[in-house]
Amino acid sequence: MATAVSSRWQVRDVAPKIGTEIITDKETLLSGERAGEIRDIMERRGVIVFPEINLTDEEQVAFTHTLGTFAQEASEQALTGGKGVYPITMDPTINPHADYLKGAFYWHIDGTMSQVPILGSIMSSRRLSAEGGDTEFCNTYAAWDELPDDEKQAIDGLQVVHAMWRSQLYHDPEPSYDKLKQWQAIGRNVLPLVWKHKTGRKSLVLGATALQVQGMDIAESEALLVRLRTWATSPQFVYRHKWKLGDMVIWDNTGTMHRAMAYDHNSGRLMHRTKLEGEEAFA
Ligand code: SIN
Repeated sequence: MATAVSSRWQVRDVAPKIGTEIITDKETLLSGERAGEIRDIMERRGVIVFPEINLTDEEQVAFTHTLGTFAQEASEQALTGGKGVYPITMDPTINPHADYLKGAFYWHIDGTMSQVPILGSIMSSRRLSAEGGDTEFCNTYAAWDELPDDEKQAIDGLQVVHAMWRSQLYHDPEPSYDKLKQWQAIGRNVLPLVWKHKTGRKSLVLGATALQVQGMDIAESEALLVRLRTWATSPQFVYRHKWKLGDMVIWDNTGTMHRAMAYDHNSGRLMHRTKLEGEEAFA
């Protein structure tokens, strides 16, 4: 695994196929001088951890701007009084959409309801749960690369219907009719199972919103989606982040899936997230 060291810049891969840790300081991050390198590592390694970097909300927003186009989500950011960060918590007094966030406990890609999903997320820990609450990431580029050739041929070109309501059924399997209709009003989206990126690389597009492979029998479709999800999230492709207070983690949403691990919903666990606007449509 690669290791490069300079005075305030130590880079270390934390797992063979995903995840790199960078030890640095706030000034280096906020100067933007390493932004190109960070973008490059994010694309190659999927996830970057900045242990105990302790950026404030304002600094996290400024850092996000150095990496690309800051995704403005006014209604989300209003929850922290316009500070520009979004609170991820199960505490409905802090985030009234806490219920909706329960979808985060299952493997997912953000933005599968749009044609151009966000490029990446930046998340800092503000309060930890006493138990649980790690975040897991898997590398969907590596998962594609390492499929056998005959499997690649069989699935390249398939299209999958994604629907937000599918992911909500994971944590609320018997919703009221009204709630189901509200979820369904968000719509659906048809996405390629194999994303051909502009770089020429390919990644798998899976996750909790994946409803059915188009034109495939429902049982066969479910079996394929579950088999591929199991493959993409097998240990060789996964990095599990055990949070310390003040850690910041950034990830490439276009080449990974992620999920939160279980924690006590009354624990007060709180993450502050910013996002980078998408730069590439699913194709
Ligand atoms: C998310 O899915 O964006 C949040 C993950 C977490 O809370 O660990």
